Amino acid sequence: MEKLLDLIRNRYSCRGYSDKAVEAEKVAYIKECVRLSPSAVNRQPWHFRFVVSKEGREKLQSCYSRPWFAEAPLYVIASLLHEEEWVRADGKAHGNIDVAIAVEHLCLAAAEQGLGSCWVCNFDADRLHALFAMPETEEPVAIVPLGYARDPQVPPKSRKAAEDIFSEE
Ligand SMILES: Cc1cc2nc3c(=O)[nH]c(=O)nc-3n(C[C@H](O)[C@H](O)[C@H](O)COP(=O)(O)O)c2cc1C
Repeated sequence: MEKLLDLIRNRYSCRGYSDKAVEAEKVAYIKECVRLSPSAVNRQPWHFRFVVSKEGREKLQSCYSRPWFAEAPLYVIASLLHEEEWVRADGKAHGNIDVAIAVEHLCLAAAEQGLGSCWVCNFDADRLHALFAMPETEEPVAIVPLGYARDPQVPPKSRKAAEDIFSEE
């Protein structure tokens, strides 16, 4: 059985959550999947805030105002710690790549645990930075709402065709 391909097919951007809380064991499992993510030079230049408090949730909702987003019982703020990221000799910083890998581990782990998730990057980053009193060198990269889908249904995947994205030389 192609387990990874099945999992990837079943992960989708969930934009509707029930108010059922996420079990502690599932949160712990997801955290371990995030913790084991690879990163450039193994710098692990990241921090993940798991937000469940009413106050914290309201702060997040004020940074990304969508009715479906407000439904989630749990959020993860994935941040890049700039002072820890690896920068190649030509100046290319790799922290965003590292955080992105960890966030996708999170989303795939959530899908495997029967949970919905959604990458959210279109938020007010300056506001979020201030509301969570982040240090200057920390940059919030993504917010991931997590929870049980209100209406679990994997929508059809809209993707470029294989012949348009792969080449061989
Ligand atoms: C880096 C990144 C940023 C995204 N930001 C948002 C966002 O701010 N709001 C949103 O609703 N979806 C966001 N998405 C979800 C994409 O719209 C979604 O992944 C894409 O349309 C493919 O759909 P699928 O995830 O259901 O397969 C983001 C996805 C990625 C990878």
